[in-house]
Parts: sequence; structure tokens; C-alpha cells
Amino acid sequence: KTLAAAARAGDGIMFGSAIQSALIDPDSDGDETYEQRAAAEFSLIAPENDLIWEVTEPTEPTREGGEWVHNYAWNRAEEVVDFADRNGQTIIGHHLVWHSSVPSWWPRMPGPDGKPIPNPEAYTPQVVREFLQDRVEDTVNRFEGRIGYWSVVNEVFAENGSWRPSIWQRAYPNPVPDSYGYIADSFRWAHAADANAKLYINEYGVEGNTAKARALYDLVKRLRNDNVPIHGVGFQTHRKLTDGLTGFADMLRRFADLGVEVYITEMDVRIHDTATSGVELLQQAEVYGRAVRACLDVAACKFINLWGFTDAHSWIGTVFHIGWGRATVLTNTLAAKPAYNRIAAEL
Ligand code: XIL
Repeated sequence: KTLAAAARAGDGIMFGSAIQSALIDPDSDGDETYEQRAAAEFSLIAPENDLIWEVTEPTEPTREGGEWVHNYAWNRAEEVVDFADRNGQTIIGHHLVWHSSVPSWWPRMPGPDGKPIPNPEAYTPQVVREFLQDRVEDTVNRFEGRIGYWSVVNEVFAENGSWRPSIWQRAYPNPVPDSYGYIADSFRWAHAADANAKLYINEYGVEGNTAKARALYDLVKRLRNDNVPIHGVGFQTHRKLTDGLTGFADMLRRFADLGVEVYITEMDVRIHDTATSGVELLQQAEVYGRAVRACLDVAACKFINLWGFTDAHSWIGTVFHIGWGRATVLTNTLAAKPAYNRIAAEL
């Protein structure tokens, strides 16, 4: 029995994973076992990096007759969407607006720690708004009716609950840097482009009662009060072994009481590469199990999505937390780890 089948037979939720276009590419050698497993195991698929702005718009737009002409590259996203269509899987689109995927053509400047960051003043506020609107509308339009859920804005808060600085804040004529305007507009534009897609805000570090979780709560409440079309809240759920995840179900419920759905959108649980004893693997299974339980305990929780399903292809260990690469539910050779069995048992 697959995780998707177990989830369907249980509470009727969807169960998915992020996948990478390069590994399912029918034209390249790809990875057949990866591809077959991704097709069979899940009812939900997220393109891991294939829809982000820097990938879909690799060159600067040009101006013709008062309009922006965009040079989009949809091929990678199309591959994943075609794959999911062939396999009858629902797709979640990651992410329309994210500070971390500003294309390389956007001019950079030194950030607070000297590292280059996108320069918010590289374009006039008017142009920044046009770029943002086109990014949101054109992307949602392109996949209208095919992508059922969109992560509209991702990671808009810093850990202390203040707005994360971004290139979009200045585009709104507020006296202080404020993200509310671009966030609300992004939801409205996405909704106008596909009225049937479910739109959510996505964040990490909000599974417990953190300053960031409280800020996110206030934001969602305000968006709902203003009738902004927001339908869900995504909890990334990138966790580690010591995370008790106590209070996660309560947090999900708190948000659900605002009238939105809630989702686990990017789950993984990092453990060190040298953690070969069964103990860590069982602890890892326990953390996965608790998160799954929390979702199942809350009626408004509609899907659980893993951020990669095999240790052979996980961002943990290569991008985030080098040396901690055993964060997923299957081994390098796609064998079930205790976490996999634990999830199956919970579902
Ligand atoms: C990660 C991808 O998994 C990596 O391959 C990429 O290099 C960086 O982004 N939160 C998110 C995801 O919302 O989009 C991130 O994905 C992981 C953290």
C-alpha cells in the first residue's frame, strides 16, 4: 500500500512530495526508479525548484509599445505538470513570490553582511509592481486549471515576526517598509488569474507558538477581514530530531478557526549522516509521526507534502545543513526507513 492510498483510505487527505524535473525527464536518462516511485507513491506533487521566478524568467523583460515582453522558460515546470497529469496527481505550485528566487538579471547590491542582495531601488516602484503583477498573473494563467494549489507568498517574516526585507516593499507607498500591500495584491492577482485555485501563504518555523507564528496569524486574520482571497496556510515543517512538535495540532486549529485550510507543505526531519544507529531513525520516525498525527487530528488539514522522498535527492545535506542529509523517509536506494512505516501506520 502506498502513502497516497493509505491517506485516501484513512482521513481522505492527499499525500505528496516535492520532485525534481531533471529526475523525471523522459528525454534524458533521468532516474527510472525515482520516477516510478514518485508516480506510484503520491497523490500530490510539488515542483521543487522548477516554478520559481529565477527559473521561469531567466532573462530581463524588454519593453515594446508600452508593454513588458517577458522571455519565459516554462519547460521545466511543464515537465513536472505533465508528469503529474499523466499520473492523476494534484499539483501544488511553489512559490509565486519568494525573496530567495529573484532572477539573476535583477541588479544586486551589498547586503548587511556584505553578501549581494537584490537592489530594491534598481527599478522604479511602478516597474516593480508591474513585474510582480506579471509574474503572478502570467504564471497562474499559464497553468490555469492544472495547478490546484498555489503557495502565493513564501517566508515573508523574519524570526522575530517583523517583515522580512524584500524588493517589493518599496513598491507600495507606505510611510514605513510594509509588506501588506504586495502580499494582498499577489493574492488578488492570483485569484483573478484562476478563480478555482486554492491560494495559500507558506512559512517555516510556525509549527509551535513562535513570534513568527503569531505575526503570521495576525496577517492571515487581517487578510481575511479585508476579504483578500486567501484559502490556506502552509506549514513547511522542516524539523529536527529534538522537536517535540507539541502544540502543532493546536496551532493548526487556531489558524483553521480563521476560516482557512491548513497544510503541511515541505516536511523533512534532519538527522546527521553518521547517525547510523537505529535510535536516531526511530526518533526521526517519531517526529514524522507526530506531524502526521497533528494534521489528521485537525479537520481543516487537507494534505501532507514531503520535501523530497529519498535521501538520494534531498536539499538537506546539499543546500541546507551539510552533513545532515538523511532527512527523508526512504534510503538512497528507496528502501523504507522507520519514518516511512510510521507514517503509513498513522495514516
Ligand atoms: C529549496 C530547494 O529544495 C533547494 O533545492 C533549493 O536549492 C533551495 O530551495 N523552503 C522553501 C523551499 O520554501 O522552496 C526551499 O526549497 C526549502 C525551504
